[in-house]
Amino acid sequence: MKIKTSEIVMSAVSPKQYPDDGFPEVAFVGRSNVGKSSTINTLLGRKKLARISSSPGKTRTINFYLINQEYYMVDLPGYGYAKVSKDERASWGKIIETYLSSRDNLYEVMLLVDIRHEPTKDDQLMYDWIKHYGFGKIVIATKSDKIPRSQMQKQFKLIRETLKMAPEDKILPISSLKKQGIDELWKALTDFFIE
Ligand code: GTP
Ligand code: MG
Repeated sequence: MKIKTSEIVMSAVSPKQYPDDGFPEVAFVGRSNVGKSSTINTLLGRKKLARISSSPGKTRTINFYLINQEYYMVDLPGYGYAKVSKDERASWGKIIETYLSSRDNLYEVMLLVDIRHEPTKDDQLMYDWIKHYGFGKIVIATKSDKIPRSQMQKQFKLIRETLKMAPEDKILPISSLKKQGIDELWKALTDFFIE
């Protein structure tokens, strides 16, 4: 897809703040610090559109990025970040859950996991949940620059087995740092958007 325009339209916490223009949306979910915001920036060829940070817990609202006045990419707060208070974690959980369970124009939800690690219990719960809603056809394995190519298959197997992925579901490795895997991810996204 040729990106003509990309802009942040809204940082929302409650449904009444979500954009109401009905454009198709693809949402990115995953643990804090896994690289959701970086992935969106890389896809859009923008360095600082979505704010990123080396300390987890950067994204605290649902951020809607409008592309070509036609589609949204939606950046969600990360889960599993131990250093925020229990109350705050519960409130992020609610923000994520409300969005995912109520959004009519949501076309796909992509789970991001770190290619180096076994998916956590939270990742498993999230994946089960998005599968239940008919999403989760693609899992993005982030930070692929952090392991040698020779280890990738082993990590894919671990991710696949831990999440109990179906054979037809795909894992796409990407590196925002090295700009690898981005074309493949764009191809998959384009399919979702025009579905
Ligand atoms: P929250 O907003 O806290 O949920 O985090 P997030 O999932 O949006 O992660 P973010 O994009 O802010 O990235 C977290 C850290 O990982 C930053 O220091 C990024 O620079 C780093 N990072 C993201 N993608 C990559 C990658 O492909 N390779 C490497 N080496 N680092 C990455
Ligand atoms: Mg973020």
